This record gives sequence, C-alpha cells and structure tokens, in this order.
Amino acid sequence: MRTVIGNWKMQLTIAEAEQLAKDVAAALPKRLTDVRVVVCPSYAALAPVRDALGGSPVVLGAQDLCHEEKGAYTGEVSGRELADIGVKFVLIGHSERRSHVHEDEALIHAKVQRAFKNKMTPVLCVGETRDELDKGLRDVVVERQVRAAFEKLELPARCEMIVAYEPVWVIGSGTDVDPEDAARSHYIIRETLRDIFTPETADRRCRVIYGGSVDKGNIAGFLSRPVIDGVLVGGASLSAPEFTAIVEAARTADAKG
Ligand code: PGA
Repeated sequence: MRTVIGNWKMQLTIAEAEQLAKDVAAALPKRLTDVRVVVCPSYAALAPVRDALGGSPVVLGAQDLCHEEKGAYTGEVSGRELADIGVKFVLIGHSERRSHVHEDEALIHAKVQRAFKNKMTPVLCVGETRDELDKGLRDVVVERQVRAAFEKLELPARCEMIVAYEPVWVIGSGTDVDPEDAARSHYIIRETLRDIFTPETADRRCRVIYGGSVDKGNIAGFLSRPVIDGVLVGGASLSAPEFTAIVEAARTADAKG
C-alpha cells in the first residue's frame, strides 16, 4: 500500500489548517484500504486539525519532535505530548530543519529513537543539495544520512520506518526530476536499509517515498517505479483538490517495473 504524506510546513493559520483538513476529509472516501494518507500541520494546529478530520481515514503527523522525553527544553514539544494528541507519524531531519536550525546527524538519530519510544513512525528525510549533486556526491550523502539516523537503533518489536528521499534542490522549486533518477536513489536507500537491518526486516518494516515538487501532473511518473512506495508533498498539499488528486493517483497508479 502506498503512503501519501502532506507537509503543511508553517504556511497556514489554524483556521486555514482546520478548513483544509475538512476539505481533504470531505473529498476522500470514508474508508481507504488501498492508500495511507497522512497530513502534518504545524504543532499549534495539530489538535484542531485532528478534530476537523473527525472520523476520516486521514492520519495525523507532526513535522518534528524533541529528542528528549521531558525536561528543561524551552520551546520544544515532546513525543509523549504528540502521542497524547494522536500523532502517529513524525517527520525527522527535514532539509529545512537541517539547514535553518542546523540539526545534525546525532540529533536526528536521537529523534528517530524518541519517535519509537512514543510509538510513532519516523519519516526520515534525506537528500543531497545542488552542490553535492554537482560534485557527484548524491549517493554518498544519501547513504551517510540513512546510516547516521538508523544504525545502532533499538528497534521496538513492532515498528515501521519511512525514509523520504527529497533532493534538497528540488524542494519548493517546481523543478521536475526524472523519476528514473529518483528511483536510483531509492535503490541505494533500500540497499542501505537492508544492510543496516537485514533484508527481511528492511523489506517488511521500511518504506521509501519520494518528495520534492510532487504534484498531480508528475506523480504518475514516480509511482510507476516499484521502488517508490509513496510521496511526501509540500506545496501541492495545501490545496485540497490538488492533494486529493495526488491521493487518487496513488490509489490507482500501476507500478510498471
Ligand atoms: P514541495 O515540498 O513539495 O513543496 O517541494 C516537499 C517537502 O518539503 O517535503
């Protein structure tokens, strides 16, 4: 089953986030058995969006969490608070956090572990910058980021992990990436996960999704690649018709091999 995650970033007021949640819920079927849909509002909008989603199958995600369980961390939000609100998925290491607030790999690793402690599915974001791409470092960077986040984890008995491959230079740019190029990075991520965890564990528990200027016009190309298990959508998730068209495409797209 594919996974479609909307990252609303810091784009909306609470009232706008509630309205968007209502519109998305109204446009989707009451039950979804062939796709998982997650929306990630900002912290302040989480509870209002949860309420606005009502009984819809859309699941709540957060955009970040604190690496510590509790304590003197002014301004942070803990995984247990997020779990209390009903958050099931959490973005970790998004490139905007790696660059704007200098999240490093040790912190990102601790956040992944914290997500598991609070029974949430971490959505680890990885991807190369334009400069790294131009220097031929894409594969090295992506593998390093996955290893830094996932090696030496204590895995709970039941858990799932998602890696979102997001080329940093594509995010928010409207640039179209060749799905074949995206698929290549997905292979590298999957092989790295198989090496870290064992092939069986990686194939059972890890999903690898694509993000970066995904919209209803280009999604079919990505989903036609069997190594791409879904999408992480920023800008296009802020419009209910656009986002629900992406969900619809994920329900019906055929992977061609
Ligand atoms: P975008 O954002 O779809 O607007 O490129 C993706 C993301 O930042 O997760």
